Amino acid sequence: MNETCREFSSNVLKGSKKGLKRDALTEGKLSRCSSDHEDSVSWDVRDSIKFGVADSSISQDILDVDLKPKISFKYQTNDGRKIFVFDNILEQKDLGIFSHYINIDLGAWQFSLHEPYDGGLEKPSDNIPWINEIDCVLFFQSLVGRTIQKAVMDAAQTKDAYYPYKVRAKLVRRGDLTKLYTDANRTDDEYSTFMFLNQRWRKNDYGELYLFDEDNEILAGAVPKPGRLVVWQSSIPYLSRPPSIAFKKGQLILHVQFTKSKQKMLASHKERTVSRTERQKAYDRGFVGSDKPAPVGIDVGKHKVSEHLSMQGKRILVFDDLFDKEDLDKLRVFIFKHGTYYYDDSDEGDSDSDNVQWIAGFEINDYVKSRLWNIMQQTLKHISGRDKWFPYDVSCNLIRSADHTRIHQDCEPHEDEWTYLIYLTPNWTKNDYGETAFYETMTHDNEIITEVRPKYGRAVVFQGIIPHSARPPSTNQSHARLTFVAKVSVNEFVGRRKAFIEEMRHFEGLALSRGTGNQFESEDDDDEIDDDDEEQESGNKPPAGVTKEPQSVDEAWKEKLMNEEETDDPEVQELRRQLDDVTQSGNLEAMRNLHRELHARHVIGRQETLRRLKNLI
Ligand SMILES: [Fe+2]
Repeated sequence: MNETCREFSSNVLKGSKKGLKRDALTEGKLSRCSSDHEDSVSWDVRDSIKFGVADSSISQDILDVDLKPKISFKYQTNDGRKIFVFDNILEQKDLGIFSHYINIDLGAWQFSLHEPYDGGLEKPSDNIPWINEIDCVLFFQSLVGRTIQKAVMDAAQTKDAYYPYKVRAKLVRRGDLTKLYTDANRTDDEYSTFMFLNQRWRKNDYGELYLFDEDNEILAGAVPKPGRLVVWQSSIPYLSRPPSIAFKKGQLILHVQFTKSKQKMLASHKERTVSRTERQKAYDRGFVGSDKPAPVGIDVGKHKVSEHLSMQGKRILVFDDLFDKEDLDKLRVFIFKHGTYYYDDSDEGDSDSDNVQWIAGFEINDYVKSRLWNIMQQTLKHISGRDKWFPYDVSCNLIRSADHTRIHQDCEPHEDEWTYLIYLTPNWTKNDYGETAFYETMTHDNEIITEVRPKYGRAVVFQGIIPHSARPPSTNQSHARLTFVAKVSVNEFVGRRKAFIEEMRHFEGLALSRGTGNQFESEDDDDEIDDDDEEQESGNKPPAGVTKEPQSVDEAWKEKLMNEEETDDPEVQELRRQLDDVTQSGNLEAMRNLHRELHARHVIGRQETLRRLKNLI
């Protein structure tokens, strides 16, 4: 791995499927950079004070602003511990920039729920499944961080600094089983904060934060209004109520814990750096299970469980026990320990996508050296009689019971592709559901070709054009349904071209963000608030006859970032031209180079965007 940032399979987002859409978090979803490399993308490593080894000289002036007038509600427990609700402490634009930053930088969500099969002990937590840890020192020095810090100090009525030592973006979705939790002990003198980052929240969306008194009754409930900040003494138990079952998107929350100990913040910063380095080392060791050669001459036919044919003559084959349990276990552990996920909740009006919202990508160049791929190749040769297949898209999908996956096709009718899927869900029972369903057509009056039930290590290999869908687990099953998926093209040239096109889609998103990029999510069509009303409410719309104040460069850029929609980027045009030329030439080496070139530009573009955003938060 000699690139600055690991090249990932192109399906880290919604990959190779028809009806691709622009997603809300577009540019964060292609290049997953991990560990210290990720830091080099995310944070400006040239600034050794901010991002080097934890340094006790790190300092930051306390924001000179009195936020007490922004307190909307105050509560007090029976024994005098306090809770405060602040509103409008940040300008909407700053909040938008910060959310945008989280989305771009942290395409690295980690699934935090305990999976007993993989060992270890379940740690008590608030049970919010998805966490994305933000560097606490960067946060400490950002406008958002300083503002929240000042709110905490105003709440505590002290001039002594509180330092953010745990800064995590959290994502809660309908059906999540969140739990009552307490961040710290009474003796710790710490404060916790929740900031709600969804741009809009409607009255029946739920998602409130409840804080409990010693008598186990709810003392305070905060409605998740956009930008609202709840500050409480960390020994008060809280419960983050998941969104309503009718709320399809994720609820994005910024959860920060503050301490008076600067050393604690610096130690936490260091811990995060170490853990990212570990993750990078894990990726650098290559794809899981590549340390021993694949068995030669597998009798694939002996492993075949069944074969199914669509009315169009397309094939679906099911195999058991092709893979070593040891490899499967290692892959699972790797995914849960180091896997970083991109989140896509752009679930609107796109009936042709699979609507899998959590996808972790793997690097193609590593994967083609793996034992797993060798076994896949032997399977594909057995099925098709051909041996030039190339995986253009390698990923792991994670589906849970409240997901709403959809019937889709993995390729276009003119493409000769197969999808190779391995179930990574141990001890899965029939009542857990989670089948893969195959259909004759994409129409509403379609019929089932077959349904395959998950079984640990089972492989399903099918022609990508067959309409299919991963079915979510039963609501009784709180564990994740995990599948490892490789989509293969007929040869490397075609596969690389496809991977290039997918990466271009994300690169375009990034290019769009350079000049534009409204990162506030769009809401459902049935939104009860009309846009004009919303603008009036938020105060964004100047009254008639009022001229806007002249803007600074930063303000103008923020305005642009938040409001524009499309751009025609010359770099994108040039890359498209190059793709046409290379396609004409049919030269594999040129295609490899072009793919590499795009990836390098993508990494740089991402760094630039992050740097600009960092300067604004
Ligand atoms: Fe699919």
